[in-house]
Amino acid sequence: MCGIVAYLGQKNAQPILIEGLKRLEYRGYDSSGIALLGDAEVTITKSVGRISALEEKVGVDVSAATLGIGHTRWATHGAANTINAHPHVDYTGKITLVHNGIIENYATLKKWLESKSVEFASETDTEVVANLIGYFYSHGNSRNGTKVPASGNKFEWAVQEALNELVGSYGLAIICSDYPDTLIGAKKGSPLILGVGEKEFIIASDASAIVEHMTQAIYLSDNEMVIANRDGFKTKTIDNIAVSKSLKEIEFSLDAIELAGYEHYMQKEIAEQPEALATCMKGRIDLKSNRVVLGGLQNHLRKLASTKRIILTACGTAWHAGLVGEFLFEQLARIPAEVEYASEFRYRNPVINDGTIVIAISQSGETADTLAAIEQAKERGALVIGAVNVVGSTIARTTDAGVYLRAGPEIGVASTKAFTAQVAVLTMLAIELGRRRHLSNEYAGELLREMVQLPDKVGLILKQSDHIKEIAKANIDRDNWLFLGRGLNYPVALEGALKLKEISYIHAEGMPAAEMKHGPIALITDGMPAVFIATRCSQYEKIIGNIEQVRSRGGKTIVVATEGDENIKQYADYLITVPDTDEKLQPILNVIPLQILAYHAAVLRGHDVDKPRNLAKSVTVE
Ligand code: M6R
Repeated sequence: MCGIVAYLGQKNAQPILIEGLKRLEYRGYDSSGIALLGDAEVTITKSVGRISALEEKVGVDVSAATLGIGHTRWATHGAANTINAHPHVDYTGKITLVHNGIIENYATLKKWLESKSVEFASETDTEVVANLIGYFYSHGNSRNGTKVPASGNKFEWAVQEALNELVGSYGLAIICSDYPDTLIGAKKGSPLILGVGEKEFIIASDASAIVEHMTQAIYLSDNEMVIANRDGFKTKTIDNIAVSKSLKEIEFSLDAIELAGYEHYMQKEIAEQPEALATCMKGRIDLKSNRVVLGGLQNHLRKLASTKRIILTACGTAWHAGLVGEFLFEQLARIPAEVEYASEFRYRNPVINDGTIVIAISQSGETADTLAAIEQAKERGALVIGAVNVVGSTIARTTDAGVYLRAGPEIGVASTKAFTAQVAVLTMLAIELGRRRHLSNEYAGELLREMVQLPDKVGLILKQSDHIKEIAKANIDRDNWLFLGRGLNYPVALEGALKLKEISYIHAEGMPAAEMKHGPIALITDGMPAVFIATRCSQYEKIIGNIEQVRSRGGKTIVVATEGDENIKQYADYLITVPDTDEKLQPILNVIPLQILAYHAAVLRGHDVDKPRNLAKSVTVE
């Protein structure tokens, strides 16, 4: 899980690489580096820590090189230091590359190379790729005895031969000092895009590193490589079969990935939720017929509506959205549903019956665990539907059909607007499946009319940011928090706890409120904050009982309640209100104050909100 960027063109490569790395920094930020190729000589600069440290180290560019590669790292093999940081150079000094992914058979390949007296400098799996290419390149024959074709391009041939030896995942950008006009990219399991401009190209892990310079791109598929030179580019499989790829317009603008006056991306993305939700629902809700139109699923809706079982699979925040989906598919469509951690799903020999439908939920569309679960489900014959935010991402392309979240780029590591969009998509789907089964026209109409009001209601909650900040401030010294909710608010409690944990490093547990008395109640000490989601719902009276259990043990209650609920005030040490809505739609509103609470807590504690320690935005390793 790293970010890679490479440039070949007419311009000075260094600033383009540094800017690109800044845009990709959310993918990993423990070390970084760039390599510039000018006058047959490669200059490499590496640094530990953030891109700003690398930028300082490289200083003002004097090389004027127009070809270069860059990398921002989230360590998997080897510590975060400059030796392990990318780019890596092979033992001959000719091949330099950056890599995102994991080479699973690196130990075997390393042993083979060492038996040929090749020496290694780092602890990384990536250096094996550089050395393997370098070995084939310098010897002119590969491990299986294939020789470089007399008329062929030796660099391209060596890369291709090496790729055929690799087991695992890679997004690669590779340069060779003998070929100052050539840039090679390759992809398997990790994302890779080629931005195409006027006699210039950028290879990157995602479009955010490209969009400032060019608006068109091709999305490589697994086992494909691209060979770009100053006149053009070609794409082929790693088996040397030419493939033609169509140019696609990059779908977001630079504005969407800039801070635009906000201090942090998370703050911006929380604030963008009214718009993101409106865009997610736009053109999909028909209030005349009380139906939902999800274009990408049109051909599968009949099958979906008659399925005997839905499995939702995802990780982290997306898994929490899946829990909301499970509830709604059962309540609104009366379809048995279950939620699986994608990381567990693939290893437990899941029973997938004829007619099981799997829904994979992901913001990035690149999460390795979720991808593996999809592969497992497909192998067993399930129809796999994606609910994905990033257009053209691997999950979006691997699933049989899908619905885009349309939340816009989410850059802060803590997922916010993607969660509410995921829940909105699952809600719309549950309503439509319900309409095709037992759900009354009247109730579907009520729900849909309520749904279209959600963006405005979210806007009202956002106005309470200062009040919520005061609550965070009052409890900022507390190191243990509980988040409690029932029914549809149980996943909201989980999500609130995850948000607090990941950015403010405060220990927090989310759980069904009634479960507390079966053990966790022992944790409650004087002044311990317990966040209750207690909006008006079918279990309202029950959750009041749970609040009392906490208060009688000295816990401090932070209660999210429905506007105008006078009764709840007596139970709340701190009260946050949200507008009223149908119980089935409450997760979308109730999560907002918890996102804001976590945001303020992290800022108050002085943490890097958008790049919390040890984390990266998309987890592309198992
Ligand atoms: O990109 P995905 O939605 O597949 O990512 C899944 C999780 O890694 C992600 O939701 C993670 O839990 C977030 N950091 C939570 O804020």
